[in-house]
Amino acid sequence: MFDDVAPKYDVVNDVLSMGQTRRWRKVVVEAMDVKAGQRVLDLAAGTGTSSEPYADAGIDVIACDFSLGMLKVGKRRRPDIDFIAGDATRLPFADNSFDASTISFGLRNVNEPKKALEEMLRVTKPGGKLVIAEFSQPVVPLWRTMYTEYLMRALPAIAVKVSSNPDAYVYLAESIRAWPDQDHLAAWLKDAGWESVTYRNLSGGIVAVHRAVKPGGPATDPAAGAKALANHTGPVAKLRRNTRPAR
Ligand SMILES: C[S@@+](CC[C@H](N)C(=O)[O-])C[C@H]1O[C@@H](n2cnc3c(N)ncnc32)[C@H](O)[C@@H]1O
Repeated sequence: MFDDVAPKYDVVNDVLSMGQTRRWRKVVVEAMDVKAGQRVLDLAAGTGTSSEPYADAGIDVIACDFSLGMLKVGKRRRPDIDFIAGDATRLPFADNSFDASTISFGLRNVNEPKKALEEMLRVTKPGGKLVIAEFSQPVVPLWRTMYTEYLMRALPAIAVKVSSNPDAYVYLAESIRAWPDQDHLAAWLKDAGWESVTYRNLSGGIVAVHRAVKPGGPATDPAAGAKALANHTGPVAKLRRNTRPAR
């Protein structure tokens, strides 16, 4: 499916999110807080749009995805970025090989997302970060109703006009509705072995950015994750520390 949507993937994203993806991506990069010379895994990187800010900042970013169609479009656009074919549930990297890992709008698409969280833990160095951007559940009921209407009615209709594969966007709407909410995802992260799990809602919870740390690194300020997510002041952004027990 991703092979089919690859050629117009980025344009369609911008249209369907009404330009919001750029703001969401900025929050992710700020939460990663990585420096030139560090090595970053951008998993489910698709055409590499989520990898570009790291490459532009002199960070050694590896864009990994299992869709050869997406990787080809990405490599044509950004030949300077390392695109590697790999399955999120069986990553082709050694243990502890990245300073930080990230996945934007991809975890929901992975067949076994919990396995992907474990794999990202394995390949990240102790003390290294994980940042996830994913569609989530709007927190205010009226906003949730309006958004659900948009997802289930307007989005497929717009996709017919702008995408080469409108069915893919019906799948998109359904997969967003079926995806666990912010607290559930935070609990999955803890179950997978991540610690200091925090998240922040963007656009009223349409998107949530989760941040976590791999145990075993140098002692860190427990409030650092919250601070990194709070740096960016969006209009409806809300920061929460997950207190739900791991299941
Ligand atoms: C919506 S795109 C996101 C691309 C990019 N991260 C972005 O922010 O634009 C989701 C990507 O997840 C990839 N994907 C889904 N399951 C995967 C898996 N098991 N392993 C690797 N990539 C996967 C798809 O091929 C697709 O490129």
